[in-house]
Amino acid sequence: MVGPGAIQPLTTRIAAAGARRMVVIADVAVAAGPAASVAAGLEASGAAVTTLTVPSGERSKSAAETVRLWEALAALPADRATHVVAVGGGVVGDLAGFVAATFVRGLPVWQVPTTLVAQVDSAIGGKTGINLAAGKNLVGAFWQPVGVACDSDTLASLPDREFRSGLAEVVKYGVILDAPLFSWLEAHAAEVLTRDPAALAHVVSRCVDIKARVVEEDEHERTGLRAVLNYGHTVGHALEALAGYGALLHGEAVAIGMAAAARLAAGTGRWTVDEVQRQNSLLARFGLPLTAPPGLEEPVVERALAVMARDKKSLHGRVRFILPTAIGRVELTDDVDSSLLEAVLRDVLLSVA
Ligand SMILES: NC(=O)c1ccc[n+]([C@@H]2O[C@H](COP(=O)([O-])OP(=O)(O)OC[C@H]3O[C@@H](n4cnc5c(N)ncnc54)[C@H](O)[C@@H]3O)[C@@H](O)[C@H]2O)c1
Ligand SMILES: [Zn+2]
Repeated sequence: MVGPGAIQPLTTRIAAAGARRMVVIADVAVAAGPAASVAAGLEASGAAVTTLTVPSGERSKSAAETVRLWEALAALPADRATHVVAVGGGVVGDLAGFVAATFVRGLPVWQVPTTLVAQVDSAIGGKTGINLAAGKNLVGAFWQPVGVACDSDTLASLPDREFRSGLAEVVKYGVILDAPLFSWLEAHAAEVLTRDPAALAHVVSRCVDIKARVVEEDEHERTGLRAVLNYGHTVGHALEALAGYGALLHGEAVAIGMAAAARLAAGTGRWTVDEVQRQNSLLARFGLPLTAPPGLEEPVVERALAVMARDKKSLHGRVRFILPTAIGRVELTDDVDSSLLEAVLRDVLLSVA
């Protein structure tokens, strides 16, 4: 369900699904707002509702927090007739989804994403998981939500930088699979930036539709189709690791990664300079960076290459890239000349301010 007020019909659906007990797992930042609305809607149906809050931030996607939530569920006690409702951004969605996937071998989970990143990306598709010291998202499960409510009203309180970070994923969808969405964003950037409810509902429903379609065709990331969603993420993930998680928001790193991929696409004769420019202008219009912040620890290019080779999506150590051939069309390739790659990385990672 997408649009202003979508929490309301979702709670009706959850209540009708026959749970004896419901557990709302919420980011503490939205506990008093959206999570309280969800709990109130569920209580109206007469069910037992418990709310468990999770501290804000990536560090909560941890084994320790997972165990804490498992123990809290066991203490209720939760059983297979318990439904979990995750309310928050991607951190809580991934964590609560993983807890739901694993507790008593699986509880039904519903997602109420409250960041733009979560509404257009993480709440859809069933990837759940937590981080280890050795890397992000190293432990997890595919666990599809029963239902998802992307309520645009919940985005009103989102800090500007978080909102813009989500727009990087939105631009990504346009570049990889939806030329009309891309053109629409160029024409309506102002309404998007002021979070006009109709504009947000349009954008989020387009993105949800694309993500759901891709995931339906390649749920477990086997055919390569789902990999197109990682456009901009090869360099983006490396940059997040190099800058230290948290220094750059995910969407900011992805925007820089898209700028890098665009140059690789142009440099290999796949994409026109005009369209590269259109992509980069739209990212800049949304206040997103195209080059890394200064001060990354040297040797940056070598370190980035090493992180990229370790990426769990690289195949036999060869880095795979998603490169555009036109706005709305991409291809997967591991055939990128290493001198071109190094030159692009140098430009993007070692920007001179
Ligand atoms: N499962 C997937 O397919 C998938 C896809 C993309 C990203 N992710 C994961 O998602 C996470 C990033 O998600 P995110 O960007 O939503 O970050 P997040 O969950 O950390 O939320 C960002 C910040 O916004 C706050 N917040 C959330 N909702 C708010 C609201 N409505 N008003 C005010 N503040 C609010 C949070 O407390 C947090 O400080 C990463 O861990 C990433 O790995 C998963
Ligand atoms: Zn992403």
